[in-house]
Amino acid sequence: MKILIKNASELVTCSGTSPKKGEDMRELNIIENGAVLVEDGIIKKVGKTEEILKEINEREYEVYDAKGKAVLPGFIDSHTHFVFGGYRADEYYLRLKGATYMEIMEKGGGIINSVEATRRASKEELIELGKKRLDSMLSFGVTTVEGKSGYGLDFDTEIKQLEVYKELNDIHPIDIVPTFLGAHSIPREYRCRNMEYIDFIIEKVLPYIKEKNLAQFVDVFCEKNVFSVDESRKLLLAAKMMEFKLKLHADEIVSLGGAELAAEVEAVSADHLLQASDKGIEMMAKRGVIATLLPATAFSLKENFARARYMIDSGLAVALASDFNPGSCFTENLSLVIALATLYMNMSLEEAITAVTINAAAAVGREKEIGSIDVGKKADIIILEHPSYKFIPYHIGVSIVEKVFKNGKLIYDKERDDRYAYRKNS
Ligand code: NIG
Ligand code: FE
Repeated sequence: MKILIKNASELVTCSGTSPKKGEDMRELNIIENGAVLVEDGIIKKVGKTEEILKEINEREYEVYDAKGKAVLPGFIDSHTHFVFGGYRADEYYLRLKGATYMEIMEKGGGIINSVEATRRASKEELIELGKKRLDSMLSFGVTTVEGKSGYGLDFDTEIKQLEVYKELNDIHPIDIVPTFLGAHSIPREYRCRNMEYIDFIIEKVLPYIKEKNLAQFVDVFCEKNVFSVDESRKLLLAAKMMEFKLKLHADEIVSLGGAELAAEVEAVSADHLLQASDKGIEMMAKRGVIATLLPATAFSLKENFARARYMIDSGLAVALASDFNPGSCFTENLSLVIALATLYMNMSLEEAITAVTINAAAAVGREKEIGSIDVGKKADIIILEHPSYKFIPYHIGVSIVEKVFKNGKLIYDKERDDRYAYRKNS
């Protein structure tokens, strides 16, 4: 199939095949009155509409006229926990009354609550929930999403969650990058026996996941009263030996040395980083670890935001993600994430767009295939309802995505009654 998107008032290419660091994050490589040609799901030409039209016979293409509209790469949500059972609205309500996230966790709520509901849920239930959540992400322009396990904390349920991600990847057009987060919390069966739980993961769970190819990344919640730096290091180094790529939930609530550990083990990304030290940031910059910041989580927890400005000025590559999960941040809204990053973290809008496209692609290890509108990449492309990317944070918390193409196929169209166009194709 051949498609042509033409007359885009701004074709925001985000061009690049590696993460953008420091001041390079400000460059979006915009083509005014731009066009993109796609064949067999791959981008074949990118340029000015008038130039491209001279080179082709328009009649051979399915044509989309983006006059008065901006065109961007599909967004990549590089940090989510979107497969889980149950909800925690009651905990959120307690937090509105002043309880903190950690207080709720220490009283036996929090992640463990979701673990119980996820253990009880059938695979079919989780798949149905997952599909709805993916559809909602799609409406915000997401074409690739990272999804973590971590609401099982036992062999069967962790594997069940990863198998659900695999199944969802097969049945839904959004690509899913699966991450094993077995070390998300200490299960009650292992209370006060953290190292034994880590050993169980290393000996029993990781080899199975590797054999069945159920995850590309291994992640750990490195936090006070969760997993220490030493416990996290042991797990991450074992995972690295088995050729998993690494991520960490680092320095979210307490400055524990997670950023330093991420640099030491050469993780692809360290995420959260609200309390990351100057030294940790410097070490991450030296080792090229991506800082994945999650401002909707800080917002939802009423915590101070991560020091994005300092990180970018220190030469880090920053990615932004939703952290969609049932506890600390129940939103899939990347428009809101961009608005918060620009309002409260002093990121420029150009930096924020880079952070949900090429840098987010790098945070899931796919910067050569997605994250920009470049010849040879997958045609994961969105068309906005408005002429400029400047409308994204301006229409606060609302999606202005009109159309989404995945591998060159129209999969979402807000203008249709049945907006999830892919359902008709499959
Ligand atoms: O990224 N910090 C740990 N994990 C999640 C929260 C998970 C939950 O509360 O269910 C996070 O914020
Ligand atoms: Fe998270």
